[in-house]
Amino acid sequence: DGEVYKYYADGEWKRSSSGGTVNILNPSTRKPQYKVQACTQEEVNKVFDSAKAAQKLWAKTPLWKRAEALHRAAAILKENKVAIAEALVKEVAKPQKDAVTEVVRSGDLISYTAEEGIRILAEGKFLVSDSFPGNDRNKLCMSSKIPLGVVLAIPPFNYPVNLAVSKIGPALIAGNALVLKPPTQGAVSCLHMVHCFHLAGFPKGLISAVTGKGSEIGDFLTMHPMVNCISFTGGDTGIAIARKAGMIPLQMELGGKDACIVLEDADLDLAASNIVKGGYSYSGQRCTAVKVVLAFESIADMLVAKVNAKVAKLTVGPPEEDSDITPVVSESSANFIEGLVKDAKEKGAKFHQEWKRDGNLIWPVLIDHVRPDMRIAWEEPFGPVLPVIRIKTVEEGIHHCNANNFGLQGCVFTKDINKAIMIADAMETGTVQINSAPARGPDHFPFQGIRDSGVGSQGITNSINMMTKTKSTVINLP
Ligand code: G3H
Repeated sequence: DGEVYKYYADGEWKRSSSGGTVNILNPSTRKPQYKVQACTQEEVNKVFDSAKAAQKLWAKTPLWKRAEALHRAAAILKENKVAIAEALVKEVAKPQKDAVTEVVRSGDLISYTAEEGIRILAEGKFLVSDSFPGNDRNKLCMSSKIPLGVVLAIPPFNYPVNLAVSKIGPALIAGNALVLKPPTQGAVSCLHMVHCFHLAGFPKGLISAVTGKGSEIGDFLTMHPMVNCISFTGGDTGIAIARKAGMIPLQMELGGKDACIVLEDADLDLAASNIVKGGYSYSGQRCTAVKVVLAFESIADMLVAKVNAKVAKLTVGPPEEDSDITPVVSESSANFIEGLVKDAKEKGAKFHQEWKRDGNLIWPVLIDHVRPDMRIAWEEPFGPVLPVIRIKTVEEGIHHCNANNFGLQGCVFTKDINKAIMIADAMETGTVQINSAPARGPDHFPFQGIRDSGVGSQGITNSINMMTKTKSTVINLP
């Protein structure tokens, strides 16, 4: 109806019987930009019924045909990159260029997933019994991977398209059905992306997208008895979901406080450019953003000067103008960031830039001489503010990194590869990058966090495997 975006179920775009809608605010204007349907629990039930029915047939659809359908969806998604990027710009304030990149990356991810699925799902195992004590060679075991059933995918606002397809692709190639709960901000981008799957001609009911209020359908979705797997990326809601979920595989990625350790022998220009890219891209709203710099005292002044010179060049403004720093996603997020910054200021941190905020737009700041008693030393701002802690020893850096609740990624800058590997081993995080900022991609690399950063491992191959289970058939010879 032009104004309110419909939800997607049974291969059709529908209005909710609730008559209710959810407003999506534009982070830049702070005014309503889009509206989506407020789906009911009954509608969610129907979605699961059709998902299950569609899945049974889909699992029997030859793997090569499933792959072909995914390739079609990937191509259609890329063809529609401009329209989808526009929604990303309007509802999550992603800089225009990055928004287009997100869509293209998503198309590539889907195609790669189709290829990878073809290879890994073609393989099974064949075992004979007489290797285990007491057995003759009379049992032959054939194992292969079968789908789990219905996968529930909940992506976050910061990559509503990419982190949706990183769940949808593996689920579908493996023969599962998929129910998508888009984030409120990012919902319209998600719905556009789902339309590409619709155009690609997947069976009715196999994919659906339900929008609505968390209070009405949040727990209802995650605790639904027909959910066979949850793949979630987002904040600490994930911890609550994990507590309430049933006995099903979970894949969760819940944020990070990625540390960047800079040693005395580091290439400081390389470190500085990675700190700026890692810390301030998409205004710091990435789970893999550099969120604390742990710099050796002897080089800290020089490093900070180099970082400051680059921060000064960052453009600040609307996403439509492709500014480097754009408004953060919501007023509450901006307030939270401001709270962390004020706490650091009150406790005596040194600011290299003037604190400036206009609505949700926050000018980038580097906060130096941060100490462990400041909240920003530990908490995840999800904004363009980056603390620097000066360290005297490697152990001090490793200790700070490991004492955090999060354990997503980390990075270390040094020219000494032996030291780098030693530090990488000692950092208790899912990934450590040597001489580069943390990043999830390339998207086929394993991606995982420990402690409060999540459970399970993502990346294309791991996600396909995670969304299957092993089925064995044993031939018993006389
Ligand atoms: O926000 C969390 C994302 O998984 C980070 O992805 O490293 O590609 O920005 P990225």
